[in-house]
Amino acid sequence: MKVTLSVIKADIGGYVGHSETHPEVLAKAREHMAGAKKQGLLIDYHVTKCGDDVQLIMTHQRGEDSEAIHKLAWDTFIEGTKVAKKLKLHGAGQDLLSDAFSGNVKGMGPGVAEIEFEERPAETVIIFMADKTSSGAWNLPLYKIFADPFNTIGLVIAENMHGGFAFEVHDVKEHKKIILNAPEEIYDLLVFIGAASRYMIKTVRHRGTGDVVAMSSTQRLALIAGRYVGKDDPVCIVRAQGHFPAVGEIMEPFASPFFVEGWMRGSHMGPLMPVSIPDSTPTRFDGPPRVTAAGFQLSSGELVGPRDMFADKSFDLARQQANEMAYFMRRHGPFEPHRLPLEEMEYTTMPQVMKKLAGRFVDLD
Ligand code: 13P
Ligand code: 13P
Ligand code: MG
Ligand code: MG
Repeated sequence: MKVTLSVIKADIGGYVGHSETHPEVLAKAREHMAGAKKQGLLIDYHVTKCGDDVQLIMTHQRGEDSEAIHKLAWDTFIEGTKVAKKLKLHGAGQDLLSDAFSGNVKGMGPGVAEIEFEERPAETVIIFMADKTSSGAWNLPLYKIFADPFNTIGLVIAENMHGGFAFEVHDVKEHKKIILNAPEEIYDLLVFIGAASRYMIKTVRHRGTGDVVAMSSTQRLALIAGRYVGKDDPVCIVRAQGHFPAVGEIMEPFASPFFVEGWMRGSHMGPLMPVSIPDSTPTRFDGPPRVTAAGFQLSSGELVGPRDMFADKSFDLARQQANEMAYFMRRHGPFEPHRLPLEEMEYTTMPQVMKKLAGRFVDLD
């Protein structure tokens, strides 16, 4: 049976500030999704949140980029925004950059990751969701999961994974893409994906079968809107087990927190802290950035779950380390490397300050 798993997310209002999603907004989204399931548009759905982002996890049989599904998500966000406006939540409708839906939510503000696949006898999926960061945040963990044998022993000892994986990398500034194969092209791959603000892993495929195993959202809202509108707060779907990495191999990279772009005003580097879904409440300096993971088994498209994957105690030390890394960064205040380089900041007063002081800049001797 062919199933499409679509994850579409948007920040339609923060409670309080940018720290959390209001329960009434989530309730409205669930009501809207329930109606679509009743009508047969969806097989199943799960509505959740990561920080101030509403996450619509949907299964259906309409394929990727379905206008009906995208319109359903858009309308759900519009309905949720009405609740957010009524409650005067912060930044109500923040990620809805257009007034009218025009066939596909891509480029309109919401983040999208979708995979259509033949459901396996046991179809295990993990949906990663992040707040206060951008799509490049998935580069490091996706590399470790699908190309690093120190993370994923299956690459070495599982016959059905030994052929490696292919990475589709997007250049979000030049709007170009390239496919690079692991293991033989990992040095070339790392030249690009190590620069995660520009080159982002969109898709990972199993080379033996061509099956899509991972799909991220790569929208860069700042580039879409041409002005600051918030970091993308990305999602990523990863399929697990069988000829794909095991669940534990997929979770493992997050046990060693790493720095990502985002945090306060989308203009800082900070550690990505793995947390349970209820703990995705970025409050300290609007952070530190969070990642959550919802695990499901699919049964004829029904979403069996979720399991809140980072609720596990084995991530306690990672959380502690992320908090310590946050302290190291915060000591720098407005200095790099805590503050992002000028071209990556989403808030800046540089043009105004430059204009004001232009006459006072004099040539060096
Ligand atoms: P089980 O024997 O518990 O199914 O585990 C198999 C496995 O490969 C875990 O990574
Ligand atoms: P969000 O992108 O999660 O709305 O955060 C924006 C921000 O500026 C936090 O300080
Ligand atoms: Mg927000
Ligand atoms: Mg957010």
